[in-house]
Amino acid sequence: MAFLCVSTFPTTSLSPLSPLSSKPPSHRFKVSCNASSDDHPKTSESPNLILPMQNNNVDRRNLLLGLGGLYGTANMTNIGSALAYTVTAPDDISDCVPASSLINNLDDVVRGVACCPPPSPAFPKPYVLPSFRALRVRRPAHKLTPEYIEKYKAAIAAMKALHEDHPHSWKQQGKIHCAYCDGAYHQQLSENQKVEVKVHFSSIFYPFHRWYLYFYERILGKLINDPSFALPYWNWDNPMGMMLPAMFEAPGPDNDLRTNPLFDPYRNVSHAPPAIVDLQFDDKEHGRLCVDQVSINLCSLHTQMVRTRRTDDFFGCDPDPKVSTCGGSIENGAHTAVHRWMGNPRMANHEDLGNFYSAGYDPVFYVHHANVDRMWHIWMGLKGKRKGPSSTDWMNSSYVFYDENEELVRVYNRDCVNMRRMGYMYEASSIPWKESPPIPRVKASKVALKSVRSVKKAEETEFPVKLDKRVNVLVKRPATTRSEDEKENFTEMLVLNGIKFNSEKFFKFDVLVNDVDNGIQTTATSSEFAGTFAQVPHMPGHKMFITSGASYGITEVLEDLEAEEDGHVLVTLVPRAGTEEATVSEIKIELLPID
Ligand code: C2O
Repeated sequence: MAFLCVSTFPTTSLSPLSPLSSKPPSHRFKVSCNASSDDHPKTSESPNLILPMQNNNVDRRNLLLGLGGLYGTANMTNIGSALAYTVTAPDDISDCVPASSLINNLDDVVRGVACCPPPSPAFPKPYVLPSFRALRVRRPAHKLTPEYIEKYKAAIAAMKALHEDHPHSWKQQGKIHCAYCDGAYHQQLSENQKVEVKVHFSSIFYPFHRWYLYFYERILGKLINDPSFALPYWNWDNPMGMMLPAMFEAPGPDNDLRTNPLFDPYRNVSHAPPAIVDLQFDDKEHGRLCVDQVSINLCSLHTQMVRTRRTDDFFGCDPDPKVSTCGGSIENGAHTAVHRWMGNPRMANHEDLGNFYSAGYDPVFYVHHANVDRMWHIWMGLKGKRKGPSSTDWMNSSYVFYDENEELVRVYNRDCVNMRRMGYMYEASSIPWKESPPIPRVKASKVALKSVRSVKKAEETEFPVKLDKRVNVLVKRPATTRSEDEKENFTEMLVLNGIKFNSEKFFKFDVLVNDVDNGIQTTATSSEFAGTFAQVPHMPGHKMFITSGASYGITEVLEDLEAEEDGHVLVTLVPRAGTEEATVSEIKIELLPID
Protein backbone atom coordinates (compact mmCIF):
# COMPACT_ATOMS: atom_id res chain seq x y z
CA MET A 1 0.00 0.00 0.00
CA ALA A 2 1.62 3.27 -1.03
CA PHE A 3 0.14 6.63 -0.17
CA LEU A 4 1.15 9.71 -2.03
CA CYS A 5 1.05 12.98 -0.27
CA VAL A 6 -0.95 14.70 -2.93
CA SER A 7 -1.18 18.43 -2.80
CA THR A 8 -4.60 19.69 -3.75
CA PHE A 9 -3.23 23.06 -4.74
CA PRO A 10 -1.93 24.44 -8.01
CA THR A 11 1.84 24.59 -8.04
CA THR A 12 2.60 27.52 -10.29
CA SER A 13 2.18 31.27 -10.61
CA LEU A 14 2.14 32.16 -6.96
CA SER A 15 3.51 35.41 -5.77
CA PRO A 16 5.71 35.49 -2.72
CA LEU A 17 3.78 35.73 0.51
CA SER A 18 0.38 36.24 -1.03
CA PRO A 19 -2.41 33.90 -0.02
CA LEU A 20 -3.41 31.48 -2.73
CA SER A 21 -6.35 32.80 -4.63
CA SER A 22 -7.53 29.56 -6.12
CA LYS A 23 -9.53 27.12 -4.07
CA PRO A 24 -8.71 23.46 -3.78
CA PRO A 25 -10.54 21.42 -6.38
CA SER A 26 -13.82 20.05 -5.15
CA HIS A 27 -14.07 16.33 -4.61
CA ARG A 28 -16.63 13.94 -5.88
CA PHE A 29 -17.88 12.98 -2.47
CA LYS A 30 -17.68 14.65 0.85
CA VAL A 31 -17.24 12.57 3.95
CA SER A 32 -16.27 14.20 7.12
CA CYS A 33 -13.62 12.46 9.14
CA ASN A 34 -15.37 13.53 12.29
CA ALA A 35 -18.47 11.97 13.68
CA SER A 36 -20.59 14.56 15.39
CA SER A 37 -22.32 13.94 18.66
CA ASP A 38 -22.06 15.28 22.12
CA ASP A 39 -19.20 14.71 24.51
CA HIS A 40 -19.31 12.12 27.20
CA PRO A 41 -21.19 13.51 30.13
CA LYS A 42 -19.15 14.70 33.05
CA THR A 43 -19.19 12.07 35.76
CA SER A 44 -19.64 12.79 39.39
CA GLU A 45 -16.05 12.02 40.28
CA SER A 46 -14.88 14.76 42.55
CA PRO A 47 -11.50 16.40 42.64
CA ASN A 48 -9.07 15.17 45.17
CA LEU A 49 -8.37 18.26 47.20
CA ILE A 50 -5.44 17.92 49.50
CA LEU A 51 -3.47 21.00 50.38
CA PRO A 52 -4.07 24.72 50.36
CA MET A 53 -2.88 26.29 47.15
CA GLN A 54 0.07 28.47 46.68
CA ASN A 55 -0.49 31.69 44.92
CA ASN A 56 2.63 32.14 42.92
CA ASN A 57 2.34 32.84 39.25
CA VAL A 58 6.03 32.60 38.75
CA ASP A 59 8.46 30.44 36.92
CA ARG A 60 9.00 27.73 39.50
CA ARG A 61 12.14 26.47 37.82
CA ASN A 62 13.73 29.84 38.37
CA LEU A 63 13.08 29.55 42.06
CA LEU A 64 14.32 26.00 42.23
CA LEU A 65 17.49 26.75 40.43
CA GLY A 66 18.05 30.18 41.80
CA LEU A 67 18.88 31.23 38.28
CA GLY A 68 16.08 33.70 37.69
CA GLY A 69 17.91 35.83 35.18
CA LEU A 70 18.96 33.02 32.92
CA TYR A 71 15.66 32.17 31.38
CA GLY A 72 14.32 33.82 28.32
CA THR A 73 17.63 35.34 27.38
CA ALA A 74 19.17 34.71 24.00
CA ASN A 75 21.48 31.85 23.17
CA MET A 76 19.52 29.13 24.84
CA THR A 77 20.88 26.37 22.77
CA ASN A 78 19.96 22.74 22.70
CA ILE A 79 22.80 21.86 20.42
CA GLY A 80 26.06 20.69 21.89
CA SER A 81 24.95 21.36 25.42
CA ALA A 82 27.50 20.24 27.98
CA LEU A 83 25.27 20.53 31.00
CA ALA A 84 23.60 17.16 31.00
CA TYR A 85 23.14 15.21 34.21
CA THR A 86 21.98 11.79 35.34
CA VAL A 87 18.26 11.89 36.01
CA THR A 88 17.68 10.04 39.27
CA ALA A 89 14.37 9.47 41.01
CA PRO A 90 14.78 9.56 44.81
CA ASP A 91 15.43 6.44 46.85
CA ASP A 92 12.98 7.67 49.40
CA ILE A 93 9.72 7.91 47.48
CA SER A 94 8.04 9.61 50.40
CA ASP A 95 10.25 12.57 49.56
CA CYS A 96 7.52 13.62 47.20
CA VAL A 97 5.66 16.90 46.69
CA PRO A 98 1.94 16.51 46.01
CA ALA A 99 1.21 18.38 42.80
CA SER A 100 -1.84 19.86 44.49
CA SER A 101 0.44 22.10 46.52
CA LEU A 102 1.66 23.74 43.33
CA ILE A 103 -1.65 24.37 41.66
CA ASN A 104 -3.45 27.68 41.89
CA ASN A 105 -6.91 26.69 40.86
CA LEU A 106 -8.01 23.25 41.94
CA ASP A 107 -11.67 23.81 41.10
CA ASP A 108 -11.30 22.58 37.55
CA VAL A 109 -9.07 19.65 38.36
CA VAL A 110 -11.21 16.51 38.07
CA ARG A 111 -8.53 13.92 38.67
CA GLY A 112 -6.52 13.53 41.80
CA VAL A 113 -3.44 15.68 41.98
CA ALA A 114 -1.95 13.97 45.04
CA CYS A 115 0.42 12.03 42.83
CA CYS A 116 2.76 10.55 45.40
CA PRO A 117 2.99 6.74 45.41
CA PRO A 118 1.98 4.49 48.30
CA PRO A 119 4.76 4.29 50.89
CA SER A 120 7.31 1.53 50.79
CA PRO A 121 8.93 -0.05 53.86
CA ALA A 122 12.22 -0.33 51.97
CA PHE A 123 14.34 1.63 49.54
CA PRO A 124 14.27 0.42 45.94
CA LYS A 125 16.38 -2.55 44.93
CA PRO A 126 18.24 -2.47 41.61
CA TYR A 127 16.04 -4.32 39.14
CA VAL A 128 17.30 -7.45 37.43
CA LEU A 129 15.56 -8.37 34.17
CA PRO A 130 13.90 -11.72 34.83
CA SER A 131 14.24 -14.69 32.52
CA PHE A 132 11.19 -15.76 30.53
CA ARG A 133 9.92 -18.62 28.42
CA ALA A 134 8.41 -16.75 25.53
CA LEU A 135 8.33 -13.17 24.33
CA ARG A 136 5.17 -11.20 24.94
CA VAL A 137 3.92 -10.10 21.54
CA ARG A 138 2.28 -6.69 21.35
CA ARG A 139 -0.29 -6.67 18.55
CA PRO A 140 -2.05 -3.86 16.70
CA ALA A 141 -5.21 -3.06 18.66
CA HIS A 142 -7.41 -3.05 15.57
CA LYS A 143 -6.43 -6.63 14.78
CA LEU A 144 -7.09 -8.23 18.19
CA THR A 145 -9.31 -11.30 18.29
CA PRO A 146 -12.51 -11.07 20.37
CA GLU A 147 -10.91 -13.47 22.87
CA TYR A 148 -7.90 -11.23 23.26
CA ILE A 149 -10.09 -8.18 23.77
CA GLU A 150 -11.94 -10.04 26.53
CA LYS A 151 -8.66 -10.98 28.16
CA TYR A 152 -7.44 -7.39 28.02
CA LYS A 153 -10.74 -6.14 29.45
CA ALA A 154 -10.55 -8.71 32.26
CA ALA A 155 -7.07 -7.53 33.15
CA ILE A 156 -8.09 -3.86 33.27
CA ALA A 157 -11.23 -4.75 35.22
CA ALA A 158 -9.08 -6.61 37.77
CA MET A 159 -6.80 -3.60 38.06
CA LYS A 160 -9.78 -1.31 38.59
CA ALA A 161 -11.13 -3.67 41.26
CA LEU A 162 -8.06 -3.35 43.47
CA HIS A 163 -8.20 -1.08 46.48
CA GLU A 164 -6.99 2.32 45.40
CA ASP A 165 -4.05 2.23 47.82
CA HIS A 166 -2.69 -0.91 46.20
CA PRO A 167 0.36 -0.05 44.10
CA HIS A 168 -1.16 -1.96 41.17
CA SER A 169 -4.51 -0.22 41.26
CA TRP A 170 -5.77 1.74 38.29
CA LYS A 171 -5.45 4.91 40.32
CA GLN A 172 -1.88 4.32 41.51
CA GLN A 173 -0.78 3.36 38.01
CA GLY A 174 -2.34 6.54 36.65
CA LYS A 175 -0.63 8.62 39.34
CA ILE A 176 2.81 7.50 38.21
CA HIS A 177 2.50 9.69 35.16
CA CYS A 178 1.46 12.69 37.20
CA ALA A 179 4.30 12.15 39.69
CA TYR A 180 6.97 12.02 37.00
CA CYS A 181 5.70 14.94 35.01
CA ASP A 182 4.18 17.35 37.48
CA GLY A 183 7.09 17.88 39.79
CA ALA A 184 6.51 15.35 42.57
CA TYR A 185 10.18 14.37 42.79
CA HIS A 186 13.32 16.45 42.91
CA GLN A 187 17.00 15.80 42.81
CA GLN A 188 19.89 17.82 44.11
CA LEU A 189 22.42 18.56 41.37
CA SER A 190 24.78 20.49 43.58
CA GLU A 191 24.67 22.27 46.88
CA ASN A 192 22.46 25.05 45.59
CA GLN A 193 20.91 23.50 42.56
CA LYS A 194 17.84 21.35 42.80
CA VAL A 195 15.81 20.24 39.80
CA GLU A 196 12.56 18.43 39.21
CA VAL A 197 12.74 14.85 38.02
CA LYS A 198 11.06 15.27 34.66
CA VAL A 199 10.52 12.65 32.02
CA HIS A 200 9.13 14.69 29.14
CA PHE A 201 10.62 16.95 26.52
CA SER A 202 14.04 15.27 26.46
CA SER A 203 15.82 12.03 25.57
CA ILE A 204 14.50 10.55 28.84
CA PHE A 205 11.04 10.43 27.29
CA TYR A 206 11.42 7.07 25.49
CA PRO A 207 13.14 5.04 28.22
CA PHE A 208 10.91 6.27 31.04
CA HIS A 209 7.73 5.36 29.16
CA ARG A 210 9.20 2.03 28.07
CA TRP A 211 9.71 1.08 31.72
CA TYR A 212 6.33 2.44 32.74
CA LEU A 213 4.57 0.25 30.16
CA TYR A 214 6.81 -2.70 30.95
CA PHE A 215 5.59 -2.89 34.57
CA TYR A 216 2.02 -2.00 33.65
CA GLU A 217 1.95 -4.91 31.20
CA ARG A 218 3.44 -7.34 33.72
CA ILE A 219 0.98 -6.23 36.38
CA LEU A 220 -1.95 -6.78 34.02
CA GLY A 221 -0.57 -10.20 33.06
CA LYS A 222 -0.20 -11.16 36.69
CA LEU A 223 -3.74 -10.03 37.51
CA ILE A 224 -5.15 -12.50 34.98
CA ASN A 225 -2.45 -15.05 35.63
CA ASP A 226 -1.14 -14.96 32.07
CA PRO A 227 2.64 -14.51 31.77
CA SER A 228 2.30 -14.11 28.00
CA PHE A 229 -0.06 -11.15 28.25
CA ALA A 230 1.05 -8.24 26.09
CA LEU A 231 -0.39 -4.76 25.73
CA PRO A 232 -1.96 -4.01 22.37
CA TYR A 233 -0.61 -1.02 20.44
CA TRP A 234 -2.69 1.68 18.82
CA ASN A 235 -1.41 1.47 15.27
CA TRP A 236 -2.12 5.15 14.44
CA ASP A 237 0.69 5.23 11.90
CA ASN A 238 -1.17 2.86 9.59
CA PRO A 239 -4.40 3.93 7.82
CA MET A 240 -6.12 0.76 9.06
CA GLY A 241 -5.40 1.79 12.64
CA MET A 242 -6.05 5.51 12.48
CA MET A 243 -9.33 5.35 14.36
CA LEU A 244 -9.49 4.92 18.12
CA PRO A 245 -9.61 1.11 18.51
CA ALA A 246 -13.30 0.22 18.74
CA MET A 247 -12.97 -1.77 21.99
CA PHE A 248 -12.46 1.47 23.95
CA GLU A 249 -15.84 2.89 23.04
CA ALA A 250 -17.91 -0.30 22.81
CA PRO A 251 -20.75 -0.76 25.30
CA GLY A 252 -20.26 -3.30 28.09
CA PRO A 253 -22.33 -6.44 28.73
CA ASP A 254 -25.58 -4.66 29.66
CA ASN A 255 -25.26 -2.40 26.67
CA ASP A 256 -23.99 0.34 28.90
CA LEU A 257 -20.78 2.10 27.91
CA ARG A 258 -19.80 2.58 31.53
CA THR A 259 -19.59 -1.16 32.21
CA ASN A 260 -16.82 -1.52 29.63
CA PRO A 261 -13.62 -1.38 31.73
CA LEU A 262 -11.77 0.20 28.78
CA PHE A 263 -14.18 3.10 28.68
CA ASP A 264 -13.14 6.44 30.09
CA PRO A 265 -15.61 9.29 30.49
CA TYR A 266 -12.96 11.92 29.87
CA ARG A 267 -12.47 11.58 26.17
CA ASN A 268 -13.52 13.60 23.17
CA VAL A 269 -16.55 11.62 22.12
CA SER A 270 -16.65 13.26 18.71
CA HIS A 271 -13.34 11.50 18.12
CA ALA A 272 -14.80 8.06 18.72
CA PRO A 273 -14.79 5.83 15.62
CA PRO A 274 -15.19 6.50 12.73
CA ALA A 275 -13.22 9.74 13.23
CA ILE A 276 -9.69 9.53 11.87
CA VAL A 277 -6.93 10.72 14.17
CA ASP A 278 -5.30 14.03 13.25
CA LEU A 279 -1.56 13.71 13.80
CA GLN A 280 -1.24 17.50 13.46
CA PHE A 281 -4.12 18.22 15.83
CA ASP A 282 -4.18 21.84 16.93
CA ASP A 283 -7.36 21.76 19.06
CA LYS A 284 -9.42 22.71 16.00
CA GLU A 285 -11.75 20.65 13.86
CA HIS A 286 -10.85 21.01 10.19
CA GLY A 287 -13.55 18.75 8.75
CA ARG A 288 -11.05 17.27 6.31
CA LEU A 289 -11.80 14.54 3.84
CA CYS A 290 -10.54 11.22 5.19
CA VAL A 291 -8.11 10.85 2.32
CA ASP A 292 -6.58 14.25 3.10
CA GLN A 293 -6.32 13.44 6.79
CA VAL A 294 -4.62 10.12 6.06
CA SER A 295 -2.15 11.91 3.79
CA ILE A 296 -1.39 14.51 6.45
CA ASN A 297 -0.79 11.74 8.99
CA LEU A 298 1.51 9.70 6.78
CA CYS A 299 3.53 12.68 5.60
CA SER A 300 3.87 13.93 9.19
CA LEU A 301 5.30 10.58 10.20
CA HIS A 302 7.63 10.53 7.22
CA THR A 303 9.00 13.90 8.30
CA GLN A 304 9.23 12.98 11.99
CA MET A 305 10.72 9.53 11.42
CA VAL A 306 12.60 9.33 8.13
CA ARG A 307 13.86 12.93 7.98
CA THR A 308 15.24 12.96 11.49
CA ARG A 309 18.71 11.56 11.07
CA ARG A 310 20.43 12.78 14.17
CA THR A 311 19.96 11.09 17.51
CA ASP A 312 19.00 14.38 19.18
CA ASP A 313 16.43 15.21 16.53
CA PHE A 314 14.54 12.00 17.03
CA PHE A 315 15.05 11.41 20.77
CA GLY A 316 15.45 14.96 21.99
CA CYS A 317 18.60 16.09 23.73
CA ASP A 318 19.79 14.90 27.12
CA PRO A 319 18.19 16.81 30.01
CA ASP A 320 19.97 20.04 30.76
CA PRO A 321 19.14 22.26 33.73
CA LYS A 322 19.75 25.34 31.57
CA VAL A 323 17.12 24.51 28.96
CA SER A 324 13.83 23.29 30.33
CA THR A 325 12.85 21.23 27.32
CA CYS A 326 14.11 19.90 24.02
CA GLY A 327 11.94 16.99 23.00
CA GLY A 328 12.33 14.81 19.92
CA SER A 329 10.33 14.85 16.70
CA ILE A 330 7.69 12.28 17.62
CA GLU A 331 7.31 13.50 21.17
CA ASN A 332 6.69 17.05 19.92
CA GLY A 333 4.69 15.81 16.95
CA ALA A 334 2.43 12.77 16.61
CA HIS A 335 2.65 11.90 20.30
CA THR A 336 1.33 15.28 21.45
CA ALA A 337 -1.31 15.35 18.72
CA VAL A 338 -2.83 12.04 19.85
CA HIS A 339 -2.92 13.19 23.48
CA ARG A 340 -4.74 16.38 22.59
CA TRP A 341 -7.02 14.74 20.05
CA MET A 342 -8.25 12.23 22.62
CA GLY A 343 -8.72 14.53 25.63
CA ASN A 344 -12.16 15.96 26.30
CA PRO A 345 -12.31 19.59 25.11
CA ARG A 346 -15.26 20.25 27.42
CA MET A 347 -13.13 19.75 30.48
CA ALA A 348 -11.09 22.72 31.62
CA ASN A 349 -7.84 20.77 31.34
CA HIS A 350 -8.85 18.46 28.48
CA GLU A 351 -8.74 15.43 30.76
CA ASP A 352 -7.71 12.72 30.54
CA LEU A 353 -5.21 12.43 27.71
CA GLY A 354 -5.11 16.14 26.90
CA ASN A 355 -3.12 17.00 30.03
CA PHE A 356 -0.15 15.20 31.51
CA TYR A 357 -1.42 15.28 35.08
CA SER A 358 -4.44 13.13 34.12
CA ALA A 359 -3.19 11.18 31.08
CA GLY A 360 -2.35 7.97 32.96
CA TYR A 361 -5.98 7.41 34.02
CA ASP A 362 -7.22 6.53 30.54
CA PRO A 363 -6.39 2.97 29.38
CA VAL A 364 -5.87 4.49 25.91
CA PHE A 365 -2.72 6.13 27.25
CA TYR A 366 -0.91 2.79 27.41
CA VAL A 367 -1.86 1.59 23.93
CA HIS A 368 -0.97 5.01 22.54
CA HIS A 369 2.41 4.84 24.24
CA ALA A 370 2.98 1.29 23.08
CA ASN A 371 2.95 2.72 19.55
CA VAL A 372 5.24 5.57 20.58
CA ASP A 373 7.59 2.92 21.98
CA ARG A 374 7.30 1.03 18.71
CA MET A 375 8.39 4.20 16.86
CA TRP A 376 11.66 4.06 18.82
CA HIS A 377 12.16 0.49 17.70
CA ILE A 378 11.30 1.24 14.05
CA TRP A 379 13.44 4.39 13.88
CA MET A 380 16.54 2.44 14.94
CA GLY A 381 16.06 0.15 11.93
CA LEU A 382 15.49 2.84 9.28
CA LYS A 383 18.03 3.45 6.51
CA GLY A 384 21.14 5.49 7.24
CA LYS A 385 23.23 5.79 10.36
CA ARG A 386 20.80 5.67 13.28
CA LYS A 387 22.04 5.56 16.81
CA GLY A 388 20.26 5.71 20.14
CA PRO A 389 21.38 8.02 22.95
CA SER A 390 24.66 6.81 24.40
CA SER A 391 25.91 9.30 26.95
CA THR A 392 26.83 7.95 30.37
CA ASP A 393 24.29 10.28 31.92
CA TRP A 394 21.57 8.85 29.73
CA MET A 395 22.58 5.24 30.37
CA ASN A 396 22.65 5.73 34.13
CA SER A 397 19.45 7.71 34.48
CA SER A 398 16.96 5.79 36.60
CA TYR A 399 13.39 5.69 37.86
CA VAL A 400 11.60 3.87 40.62
CA PHE A 401 8.55 1.63 40.13
CA TYR A 402 6.63 -1.05 41.97
CA ASP A 403 7.06 -4.24 39.97
CA GLU A 404 4.40 -6.92 39.52
CA ASN A 405 5.45 -8.45 42.86
CA GLU A 406 4.85 -5.14 44.66
CA GLU A 407 8.56 -4.82 45.15
CA LEU A 408 9.99 -1.31 44.84
CA VAL A 409 12.73 -1.38 42.20
CA ARG A 410 15.12 1.02 40.51
CA VAL A 411 15.46 0.69 36.75
CA TYR A 412 18.09 2.19 34.48
CA ASN A 413 17.93 3.39 30.89
CA ARG A 414 20.82 1.12 29.99
CA ASP A 415 18.65 -1.94 30.71
CA CYS A 416 15.81 -0.96 28.41
CA VAL A 417 17.56 -0.42 25.09
CA ASN A 418 16.91 -4.00 24.01
CA MET A 419 13.24 -4.82 24.24
CA ARG A 420 13.74 -8.51 23.49
CA ARG A 421 15.88 -8.78 26.58
CA MET A 422 12.98 -7.19 28.40
CA GLY A 423 10.79 -10.00 27.09
CA TYR A 424 8.54 -8.38 24.53
CA MET A 425 8.32 -7.53 20.85
CA TYR A 426 5.95 -5.92 18.37
CA GLU A 427 4.01 -7.85 15.78
CA ALA A 428 4.81 -6.17 12.48
CA SER A 429 2.33 -3.95 10.72
CA SER A 430 3.06 -2.40 7.33
CA ILE A 431 4.65 1.04 7.39
CA PRO A 432 3.24 3.10 4.53
CA TRP A 433 4.69 6.40 5.81
CA LYS A 434 8.16 5.22 4.83
CA GLU A 435 7.18 5.68 1.19
CA SER A 436 5.04 8.76 1.77
CA PRO A 437 7.28 11.79 1.55
CA PRO A 438 5.64 15.19 1.37
CA ILE A 439 5.68 16.79 -2.07
CA PRO A 440 6.53 20.39 -2.94
CA ARG A 441 3.84 22.93 -3.67
CA VAL A 442 6.20 25.12 -5.64
CA LYS A 443 9.61 24.15 -6.96
CA ALA A 444 12.49 26.55 -7.58
CA SER A 445 10.35 29.43 -6.34
CA LYS A 446 13.34 31.63 -5.39
CA VAL A 447 10.93 32.94 -2.79
CA ALA A 448 13.71 33.95 -0.40
CA LEU A 449 15.30 36.17 -3.02
CA LYS A 450 11.95 37.62 -4.04
CA SER A 451 11.10 38.45 -0.43
CA VAL A 452 14.21 40.49 0.31
CA ARG A 453 12.28 43.76 0.30
CA SER A 454 9.35 42.57 2.38
CA VAL A 455 10.98 40.25 4.90
CA LYS A 456 13.84 40.98 7.30
CA LYS A 457 16.95 38.89 7.51
CA ALA A 458 17.58 37.12 10.80
CA GLU A 459 20.50 39.39 11.60
CA GLU A 460 18.30 42.48 11.16
CA THR A 461 15.47 41.03 13.20
CA GLU A 462 14.98 42.06 16.79
CA PHE A 463 14.92 38.94 18.93
CA PRO A 464 13.10 37.56 20.80
CA VAL A 465 10.27 37.57 18.27
CA LYS A 466 6.72 37.16 19.46
CA LEU A 467 4.69 34.19 18.29
CA ASP A 468 1.33 35.90 18.68
CA LYS A 469 1.23 36.17 14.89
CA ARG A 470 3.06 34.59 11.95
CA VAL A 471 6.80 35.17 11.95
CA ASN A 472 8.69 35.52 8.66
CA VAL A 473 12.44 35.74 8.55
CA LEU A 474 15.15 35.18 5.95
CA VAL A 475 17.86 32.91 7.26
CA LYS A 476 21.32 32.56 5.75
CA ARG A 477 22.59 29.08 4.95
CA PRO A 478 26.13 28.11 5.91
CA ALA A 479 26.67 26.38 2.54
CA THR A 480 24.85 25.93 -0.75
CA THR A 481 24.80 23.12 -3.31
CA ARG A 482 26.30 20.47 -1.08
CA SER A 483 27.70 17.23 -2.42
CA GLU A 484 26.13 13.84 -1.68
CA ASP A 485 29.17 13.01 0.36
CA GLU A 486 28.74 16.01 2.62
CA LYS A 487 25.07 15.25 3.01
CA GLU A 488 25.92 11.74 4.15
CA ASN A 489 27.82 13.11 7.10
CA PHE A 490 26.26 16.47 7.82
CA THR A 491 22.65 17.41 7.83
CA GLU A 492 21.36 20.92 7.36
CA MET A 493 19.30 21.90 10.37
CA LEU A 494 16.99 24.79 11.00
CA VAL A 495 17.56 25.54 14.68
CA LEU A 496 15.16 27.45 16.91
CA ASN A 497 16.45 28.46 20.31
CA GLY A 498 14.85 30.03 23.34
CA ILE A 499 11.30 28.98 22.52
CA LYS A 500 9.60 30.33 25.60
CA PHE A 501 5.98 29.51 26.37
CA ASN A 502 3.43 29.01 29.12
CA SER A 503 3.43 25.29 29.80
CA GLU A 504 0.03 25.40 31.47
CA LYS A 505 -1.52 25.65 28.03
CA PHE A 506 -1.48 23.45 24.97
CA PHE A 507 1.17 25.03 22.73
CA LYS A 508 1.73 24.42 19.02
CA PHE A 509 3.30 26.18 16.09
CA ASP A 510 4.40 24.90 12.68
CA VAL A 511 7.68 25.56 10.92
CA LEU A 512 7.63 26.21 7.18
CA VAL A 513 10.46 26.71 4.75
CA ASN A 514 10.18 28.68 1.50
CA ASP A 515 6.41 28.66 1.70
CA VAL A 516 4.94 30.99 -0.92
CA ASP A 517 1.56 30.88 0.77
CA ASN A 518 2.77 32.35 4.07
CA GLY A 519 1.47 29.33 5.92
CA ILE A 520 -2.16 29.95 5.13
CA GLN A 521 -3.11 26.63 3.59
CA THR A 522 0.10 24.62 3.55
CA THR A 523 -0.18 21.35 5.46
CA ALA A 524 2.20 18.57 6.42
CA THR A 525 1.64 16.99 2.99
CA SER A 526 3.87 19.69 1.47
CA SER A 527 7.64 19.65 1.47
CA GLU A 528 7.53 23.26 2.66
CA PHE A 529 6.30 21.95 6.04
CA ALA A 530 9.56 21.30 7.89
CA GLY A 531 7.94 20.28 11.16
CA THR A 532 5.94 21.21 14.18
CA PHE A 533 6.44 21.98 17.84
CA ALA A 534 3.58 20.86 20.05
CA GLN A 535 3.49 20.17 23.77
CA VAL A 536 0.88 18.69 26.04
CA PRO A 537 0.19 21.04 28.94
CA HIS A 538 1.65 19.53 32.05
CA MET A 539 0.14 21.14 35.05
CA PRO A 540 -3.25 22.76 35.36
CA GLY A 541 -3.60 25.97 37.35
CA HIS A 542 0.10 26.58 37.39
CA LYS A 543 1.38 29.13 34.95
CA MET A 544 5.01 28.33 34.32
CA PHE A 545 7.16 29.53 31.48
CA ILE A 546 9.54 27.01 30.10
CA THR A 547 12.24 27.44 27.51
CA SER A 548 12.97 24.98 24.79
CA GLY A 549 15.12 24.40 21.76
CA ALA A 550 14.07 22.56 18.62
CA SER A 551 15.68 21.71 15.31
CA TYR A 552 14.34 20.56 11.97
CA GLY A 553 16.19 18.70 9.22
CA ILE A 554 15.91 20.64 5.94
CA THR A 555 18.33 18.79 3.66
CA GLU A 556 15.56 16.85 1.89
CA VAL A 557 13.19 19.81 2.08
CA LEU A 558 15.57 21.98 0.07
CA GLU A 559 16.20 19.15 -2.39
CA ASP A 560 12.46 18.71 -2.91
CA LEU A 561 12.00 22.44 -3.37
CA GLU A 562 14.94 22.76 -5.77
CA ALA A 563 16.36 25.45 -3.53
CA GLU A 564 19.81 24.01 -2.98
CA GLU A 565 21.52 26.91 -4.74
CA ASP A 566 19.73 29.57 -2.71
CA GLY A 567 21.82 31.52 -0.22
CA HIS A 568 18.90 32.16 2.15
CA VAL A 569 15.71 30.40 3.06
CA LEU A 570 12.44 32.00 4.02
CA VAL A 571 11.36 30.64 7.38
CA THR A 572 7.73 31.02 8.47
CA LEU A 573 6.57 30.15 11.98
CA VAL A 574 2.81 29.65 12.02
CA PRO A 575 1.12 29.92 15.45
CA ARG A 576 -1.51 27.22 16.03
CA ALA A 577 -2.41 27.11 19.72
CA GLY A 578 -1.43 28.76 23.00
CA THR A 579 1.15 31.04 21.37
CA GLU A 580 -0.12 34.42 22.67
CA GLU A 581 2.63 34.80 25.26
CA ALA A 582 5.31 32.81 23.45
CA THR A 583 8.59 34.07 22.02
CA VAL A 584 11.59 32.68 20.12
CA SER A 585 15.04 34.09 20.74
CA GLU A 586 17.06 32.74 17.84
CA ILE A 587 16.50 31.26 14.38
CA LYS A 588 19.50 29.95 12.45
CA ILE A 589 20.67 27.25 10.06
CA GLU A 590 23.58 24.97 10.91
CA LEU A 591 25.31 21.98 9.41
CA LEU A 592 25.38 19.33 12.07
CA PRO A 593 27.13 15.98 12.01
CA ILE A 594 25.01 12.85 11.67
CA ASP A 595 26.56 11.01 14.56
CU1 C2O B 1 4.30 10.89 29.56
CU2 C2O B 1 2.44 10.79 26.37
O1 C2O B 1 3.34 11.22 27.93
